Amino acid sequence: MESQRTFSGIQPSGSLHLGNYLGAIRQWIPLQDEYEAFFSVVDLHAITVPQDPAELRRKTLETAKVYLAAGIDPSKATLFVQSHVPEHTELLWILNTIARMTDLERMTQYKDKSESKENLVGLFDYPVLMAADILLYDTAVVPVGEDQVQHVELARTLARRFNDRFGETFTIPEPRVMKEGARIMGLDDPMKKMSKSAASEYNFIALSDDPEAAKKKIMKAVTDSGSEITYQDDRPALKNLITIYSLLDEKSPQEIVAMYQGKGYADFKRDLAEIIASFLTRFQARLAHISDDDAMKVLRDGAEKARGVASAKMREVRERIGLLP
Ligand code: AMP
Ligand code: TRP
Repeated sequence: MESQRTFSGIQPSGSLHLGNYLGAIRQWIPLQDEYEAFFSVVDLHAITVPQDPAELRRKTLETAKVYLAAGIDPSKATLFVQSHVPEHTELLWILNTIARMTDLERMTQYKDKSESKENLVGLFDYPVLMAADILLYDTAVVPVGEDQVQHVELARTLARRFNDRFGETFTIPEPRVMKEGARIMGLDDPMKKMSKSAASEYNFIALSDDPEAAKKKIMKAVTDSGSEITYQDDRPALKNLITIYSLLDEKSPQEIVAMYQGKGYADFKRDLAEIIASFLTRFQARLAHISDDDAMKVLRDGAEKARGVASAKMREVRERIGLLP
């Protein structure tokens, strides 16, 4: 039996943070062995908010390097830039002709983002481009953060609608959310998720943060009242720090709680700060070893492989809907 496919993407929208790593990229690594994996730097999604052209180019390459440093192996997985495979935008248009305004008006991410900005058509249509990304590769499994599950549901809806109308064409994808770490919260406010667009730099730890600076951020992170180390919902700040500790040090939250019996926040935070600093040091060393030229070569090869799959799918789609060959 042929192996199933997995697809995921991340926007090149600036410095990636620990939430992106723990909530997204990290859970892709084991999937490379289990599935035929496609990982994309989704630059066409990034331009749904204004981008400086030179910065966009830089961040696109940087994001690809982060994938590689995190352990995406180009001999196993296909790593490519979305805009290098024009079939994504072609399928977007076709899906636009079966997506309903009401499907998109329900999307909570759009509702959140459109409140503060001009209501750009591209921002509204963003989930349909994401559906195109997924459906082009007959993706079975889509690893994403919790906030993206609704978008994967839309891809399922559009795939079913297309199949019902034109015959079996697309695989119906399943979202896969990693439970712990699906949502890493801000260090300065445990009620909001860690985000690179946060007002304060004390909200997030960027993968590019200087390890010493990152330690300071942990020491300054807000904690809840009480002095014991416990893992519970009504102590969300501490719960978040234990989650980060647990994911980076590969211990269960219960083990960590047990380790800090009779100790306080200061000991806990000092150790967590060391764990994060050591993770960043190792990560940044791997990143520094990947040259621009090497990353560009990986992306060119990846685009070629992705196009092979995507162009075959598009031939099928064009025929189904009655475009003249
Ligand atoms: P974004 O940075 O919003 O483009 O998200 C890129 C990926 O990282 C998506 O899969 C998100 O679900 C995930 N992600 C972003 N922020 C967090 C966070 N604070 N915790 C966990 N995952 C996150
Ligand atoms: N919208 C996703 C995010 O912001 C990124 C993305 C684009 C994606 N296309 C995708 C994720 C396809 C999974 C599959 O995180």
